Amino acid sequence: MADALQNFIDGKWVDAADGERFDVFNPATGEVIATAPDSKQADVDRAVASARRAFDEGSWWPGTSARERGRILLRAAEIVRREHDRLSRMESLDSGKPIADGQEDIGEVAFMFEYYGGWATKIEGDVQQLSRDAMFMVWKEPMGVAVGITPWNYPMMMATQKLAAALAAGCTFILKPPEQTPLTCLELPKILEEAGLPSGVLQVLTGFGETAGAPLVAHPGVDKVCFTGSREVGKIIMRSGADTLKRVTLELGGKSPNIVFPDADLDAAFEGSANGIFWNQGEICSAGSRVFVERSIYDDAVNAFADRATSERLGDGLDESTTMGPLISKEQQERVSRYIEIGTSEAKLAAQGSLPSDPRFEKGYFVAPTVFADVDNSATIAREEIFGPVMSVLPFSDLDEVIEKANDNEYGLAASVWTNDLKKALHAARALRSGIVWINDSQPAPTEMPWGGYKQSGVGRELGKQGIEDFLERKSIYVNLG
Ligand code: NAI
Ligand code: MG
Repeated sequence: MADALQNFIDGKWVDAADGERFDVFNPATGEVIATAPDSKQADVDRAVASARRAFDEGSWWPGTSARERGRILLRAAEIVRREHDRLSRMESLDSGKPIADGQEDIGEVAFMFEYYGGWATKIEGDVQQLSRDAMFMVWKEPMGVAVGITPWNYPMMMATQKLAAALAAGCTFILKPPEQTPLTCLELPKILEEAGLPSGVLQVLTGFGETAGAPLVAHPGVDKVCFTGSREVGKIIMRSGADTLKRVTLELGGKSPNIVFPDADLDAAFEGSANGIFWNQGEICSAGSRVFVERSIYDDAVNAFADRATSERLGDGLDESTTMGPLISKEQQERVSRYIEIGTSEAKLAAQGSLPSDPRFEKGYFVAPTVFADVDNSATIAREEIFGPVMSVLPFSDLDEVIEKANDNEYGLAASVWTNDLKKALHAARALRSGIVWINDSQPAPTEMPWGGYKQSGVGRELGKQGIEDFLERKSIYVNLG
């Protein structure tokens, strides 16, 4: 029997008001591993009422001292560490990712609680003396009821980076986890309750985007929405949030360039470039999906990437010899396979890895890692976010040309630059229109570092100090001392 999961609303574990549920799958086998509440407007209304009460009757949460808020988050970090193995396995089972990656994610979840637990006591305002008789203060206050709507590629991390910052700031929080991977998100209320979080401060309700997510965004009782997911849904959220002038932050993925110059440490550059698109099955918002390689090393690069694609071992994430798991859902498998078909007519198919042979995985959502060479920057596979293990390799001749091409895309989340020439690296970093630039690396996203996009990759920043600032309002208080 699959686990029957429940929502956490107003401090209690409950089913959806209408009792409906949906299935949660193991993406490696297609088997149902759990069912979860199919929440709708009535459940949203109850969650918002509870979060509102916990915020407005302030003695519960914003009325708690910053030290106490910090301590609760630090205790949550300890509990996540204690449960590390169990949570990592759960994350790997639910999302399909290799267990080593699941372990890394959960380790970072613990640190996120620790990091924002530390910030709780360091929220400071400003004071300025204008003249002998006049001064003003700027107080920072929590925005109110915050909603997090999150995706399935890093289920527990994406939720925690929002809620730990929001709770440190003194907001109350409602989480709508992804319908594909609700398991670890529903562990969060248990962890925080044990850590001492007062009832009503955190609500988690599962359900689909249009029926559970959309009513949260439109709800007049919600002050702030923090979203990670597709650009398409980001635009819907911005539009629907406009009616109530919600504070909205969006992280919407990208089509990130990865640029390799011939003066780089080429072994590291080729391996790092391959990791940038094959890690997490390519289901990474900042994946280096457009790999630009200077012409003199282009053939060597394509050969190295082809070797890598054909040596990936696809299988069950919980099997330690697996290097690449399945995609998250049948829908994503079909979507990515469609892009591979389009790519075959637009560019040269340089290599494709193999699917797992074990019949156990027949109904799993696997897609073979694929390398396309000689891709034109205007091709569909070079313009659109694929969100799978599909690499496009594009040749270039000089710095100006590659920067122009790298910037010629509607997205602007991240970029990698591989070179040992520091001046060239920093010149490129300045010229790239993206929120994150890695020099001689790809994908590190430390919790301390602000994260977010330029252009159509998003609005606002998560993580780092900015991650907490985006849950705080500023109140200016002018004082006439005369
Ligand atoms: P999605 O954007 O539809 O889902 C993300 C979250 O938004 C989920 O919790 C979903 O339930 C919710 N949602 C969906 N529609 C909503 C609505 N109208 N109002 C409020 N909430 C809503 O992403 P999906 O369909 O899972 O994946 C499609 C594509 O999106 C992927 O192929 C990829 O290109 C991109 N994506 C980007 C991510 C990123 O990290 N930036 C993460 C996941 C997907
Ligand atoms: Mg969707």
